[in-house]
Amino acid sequence: MKYYLDNAKSFFDNTVNVNMQMHYNQFLPLLPEGANIIDAGCGSGRDSKHFLALGYKVIAFDASSKLVQLATEFTKHNVSCCSFLEFNTMHNSQDGIWACASLLHISRNQLTTTFSHLAQFLKPNGVFYCSFKYGSSETERNGRHFTNLNEILLANILKDSPLKIQQSWITSDLRTGRENEQWQHAILLKDYSSR
Ligand SMILES: C[S@@+](CC[C@H](N)C(=O)[O-])C[C@H]1O[C@@H](n2cnc3c(N)ncnc32)[C@H](O)[C@@H]1O
Repeated sequence: MKYYLDNAKSFFDNTVNVNMQMHYNQFLPLLPEGANIIDAGCGSGRDSKHFLALGYKVIAFDASSKLVQLATEFTKHNVSCCSFLEFNTMHNSQDGIWACASLLHISRNQLTTTFSHLAQFLKPNGVFYCSFKYGSSETERNGRHFTNLNEILLANILKDSPLKIQQSWITSDLRTGRENEQWQHAILLKDYSSR
């Protein structure tokens, strides 16, 4: 978390204008009009702001208090400061969870627990978008932990959770100069039988 406290402003500046339209296009059409969305690890608030402008109801949170402050100013919307496992809401029948490049900082052996914790706030058949750097290793870089995943590893992590992969795809990084980095994206659905 220290990285996102020490570098909050530069991280905000570098990510707030990234065009995520191709990923919104995979997620938003699966949701009802005016759906409830949790933006988990929202960073700059870029995606929350987009969803709010489209008329969605958004609950946003991030574990970096500095990013929470910047995202609150940027979205003009309440953003909570908490970790994935601390996150709680009375509204546990959300239509969607958007976890863009955020769960990648959780160690692989904690991911099943983290996915399951967040999934409890989704309604049955709710939609969960997540993205990780594509790969199979766990690395430390600039004080940040990265769990890299491919579809097989992700399926294995989700085996004991209420979430199943509905669709997955790989892209290049959308930031200029980082086109060589690849990302694994997935849309997960919460089992209809899960409560
Ligand atoms: C690579 S950034 C992605 C931010 C944003 N979703 C985006 O796509 O630009 C990772 C974000 O996850 C947040 N984060 C890291 N660990 C977290 C945790 N355990 N709980 C909640 N947020 C966390 C960081 O503060 C940071 O904002």
